[in-house]
Amino acid sequence: MAVKINSSLLKGFIKDHELEQIAPACELAHNALHSGKGAGSDFLGWLELPENYDKDEFKRIKSAAEKIRGNSEVVIVLGIGGSYLGARAVIEALKGTLYNSVSKPEIYFAGNSLSPAYMNQVLSVLENKDFSVIVVSKSGTTTETALAFRVFKQIIEKRYGEAGARERVFAVTDKARGTLKELADKKGYETFVIPDDVGGRYSVLTAVGLLPIAVAGCDIDALMAGARAAMTDANQPDLNKNECYKYVALRNLLLRKGFSVELLVAYENSFMMMNEWFKQLFGESEGKDGKGLFPASATFSTDLHSLGQYIQDGSNIIFETVVWYKDTDSDFFLDDDPDNIDGLNFLSGQNMSKVCEKAFQGTLLAHTEGKTPNIILEQPKLDEYELGYLIYFFEKACAISGYILGVNPFDQPGVESYKKNMFALLGKSGYEKEKKELLAKLNKS
Ligand code: PA5
Repeated sequence: MAVKINSSLLKGFIKDHELEQIAPACELAHNALHSGKGAGSDFLGWLELPENYDKDEFKRIKSAAEKIRGNSEVVIVLGIGGSYLGARAVIEALKGTLYNSVSKPEIYFAGNSLSPAYMNQVLSVLENKDFSVIVVSKSGTTTETALAFRVFKQIIEKRYGEAGARERVFAVTDKARGTLKELADKKGYETFVIPDDVGGRYSVLTAVGLLPIAVAGCDIDALMAGARAAMTDANQPDLNKNECYKYVALRNLLLRKGFSVELLVAYENSFMMMNEWFKQLFGESEGKDGKGLFPASATFSTDLHSLGQYIQDGSNIIFETVVWYKDTDSDFFLDDDPDNIDGLNFLSGQNMSKVCEKAFQGTLLAHTEGKTPNIILEQPKLDEYELGYLIYFFEKACAISGYILGVNPFDQPGVESYKKNMFALLGKSGYEKEKKELLAKLNKS
């Protein structure tokens, strides 16, 4: 099992018969998903992606990644939401948060905000360094990404000329439609496909995630192999034989008991962007029709010194889902200090991972006694295979949870509201009436 649930400390919160009672709902959701009869069934391409991916494109991803690694000191990846978070999450999880200082090429993500300061900072990184750009947008029209791409395209053309730019710009987008596809074809950039039936937040195992991840030097074969294993393991309708569905059942039971915030916790700093990926996946999938768990996150032990007080002693609305890695390839041995002025010799002669494990166990007991339920997802270690497994595990859990909640886990109608207002306020043509109404509201406030 590449994810094993430890629910031993949940006994005071959930009784065995409750799991039995929610099992038929899981099975119904499973059948709806696998028969393609559930809501949003046009977007089920992710379900069998670990097996049914485009093998030729996979090869092209690897050769493009090699080319980029060969000619670029810096790579800028442009994209937002599902077109950004997965790639960054996997790269950071595997290479560490300091990856730009310790491995090559440096990889920076842009086009994921409207901050001019950040734009200037990323641009300053390019001085005197050879670089390539990967632009990712399914629609091809997302403002943050399109705006950034306009800037980087001009710079790359100025530096390398139109022909040089063709060697250094890679577009991941719709196979046939959209402004980005049109532009890429016109300019002769190499393109990769986001399949029609794979939504943004379920797209990390397509070129959206795989190209930047391969550029970072990670093993995308192992990532897909892990996802494939999860796909097989999570294909069983009975939650007693399916850890993924057991997790789904537990989190839904906790929601029904008033624990409306799920805090995803890991003890690895490098997991921080995985937290962000998880929050987008579950937030955009479940948060609709006035329903859904609020996905939040923390990194321990760091956040035990900030959120820890609230988790232990604040409103009883939070449960924790802890991703715990049993082993690490990168341990650190703590030496003895004969002076022992800091009084820390009780820690010497052991690995730092052991200290971390005790912090984990101590926190678990304290938080559970403080009435905060904990679901533990144990993984053997943090590598490509296990991460691929975990990604698919969460994707499947999210889809099944959405169906149990009675929402469409594959659309995101709420995201459009801010865009409409922003376009109107910026004076985009076609939004004249909305602009007047919004300005009147702003002037009143
Ligand atoms: O999950 C989603 O669908 C969204 O977060 C999109 O990925 C995000 O809005 C970016 O869209 P696009 O890829 O069309 O630029």
